[in-house]
Amino acid sequence: MDAIRIIGGRPLRGSITVQGSKNAALPMMAAALLHEGVTVLHNCPRIADVFYMEEILRELGADTFWSGHSLHLDCRQICHACVKQDYTNKMRSSVILLGALLGRKKQGTIGYPGGCVIGQRPVDLHLQVLRGLGARIQESEEKICADAKQMHGGCFVFPRKSVGATEQGMLAAVAIPEETQLLNCACEPEILWLERLLNAMGADVRGARDGRIRIRGGRRLRDCEFWVPPDRIVAGTYLCASAITRGVITLCNPPGEEMDAFLEVYQKMGGQYKFIGGKLVADSRRAFKPVNFVETAEYPGFPTDLQSPLMAVLTAAHGKSHIRENIFEDRFKAAYELRKMGAGIELSGRDAWIQGGSLRGNSVEAQELRGGAALVLAGLAAEGETIVRGASYIERGYETICEDLESLGGRIERYR
Ligand code: EPZ
Repeated sequence: MDAIRIIGGRPLRGSITVQGSKNAALPMMAAALLHEGVTVLHNCPRIADVFYMEEILRELGADTFWSGHSLHLDCRQICHACVKQDYTNKMRSSVILLGALLGRKKQGTIGYPGGCVIGQRPVDLHLQVLRGLGARIQESEEKICADAKQMHGGCFVFPRKSVGATEQGMLAAVAIPEETQLLNCACEPEILWLERLLNAMGADVRGARDGRIRIRGGRRLRDCEFWVPPDRIVAGTYLCASAITRGVITLCNPPGEEMDAFLEVYQKMGGQYKFIGGKLVADSRRAFKPVNFVETAEYPGFPTDLQSPLMAVLTAAHGKSHIRENIFEDRFKAAYELRKMGAGIELSGRDAWIQGGSLRGNSVEAQELRGGAALVLAGLAAEGETIVRGASYIERGYETICEDLESLGGRIERYR
């Protein structure tokens, strides 16, 4: 049975080390394609999405192997330039491989990535930036074919911010032997980490921190080893676990200022935190308050990936809270399952109104990664037993969520 069983009611206590960042590791793996050599990513999370990406790289001709959490990517023999649709359907973030293939092979074909349960998730901005840099692109129902013969530097201004499309443009521009400027880029930390990796590989990329990226491309790349940063969304999820159980936990490797927007909301709920010796101690013992209004936004705003975990916490905080989801058009799926646990949630378009109260255990279904994590959090606080089916969705992004929460005193186990 693909499920997680939780017995709620125990405050979490203890220290935890946060895994490597899924959303930093995936573009880094795509970047490895650009170099006809070896890239080693340390502290790489061993999660399904990384394994999917690894499988795609192997299909393209790369040799890969793991030693612990170090992923070795030998991209000396990249003999293919086509990523089949069943991969891009399974993991839409593989669409950024197109930019890397244009950089490496001067051509690329990828399956048209499907939408997913949190929204349509079009790729128009990905194609716009590649066309803006001169790529010739043909689209059909099931695939996108591109060639780089006429690609050139220049300046491209994103009409709207997009994490993946920004990464797409960076990966393509690194191989163009001219200067490229990408403006109105997304500023998520994962983009700055991609800039750091590309520079460690010998590229010349600047400006990711403020969304105005300048790339001097065409430089010779080199072998490198790089450390994947801690996952700020997993860190936030565990702080939500502390909050919903009124526990006290310590994150041994907190991703620093990347969590500011979340910590601001955590404090509004009554959470107390402090950084001690590079660790983050979060004390949630004070009765948790509802939050009048929170809305998701591009970085540095409140991250959309923590919207569902926060919703779970607020369903157990007595009083009224209001959440607005501004990034994805259909990211309240967890609410329907939380209602089965007694949560009072009213939905209307991009708004969710929450009447916090007590939760009771039930059998619920995860339909996507972060909503599934929210159900686990609710189970930690609910009275009695909760079974969360669809645990494999959760394991796409959380490497050891059961072991981690159990080590903090949670009564949780994985059914196989
Ligand atoms: C990345 O997705 C993350 N995934 C998401 O995390 C995260 O929620 C999202 O950024 C926002 O922070 C990875 O990094 C692998 P976007 P991405 O392009 O790049 C629309 C998780 O749970 N859009 O910034 O796909 C899009 O539909 C995942 O770890 C277009 O309209 O996000 C959305 O409404 C979920 N056209 C908005 O922009 C495009 O061409 C933001 O999407 C691309 C996106």
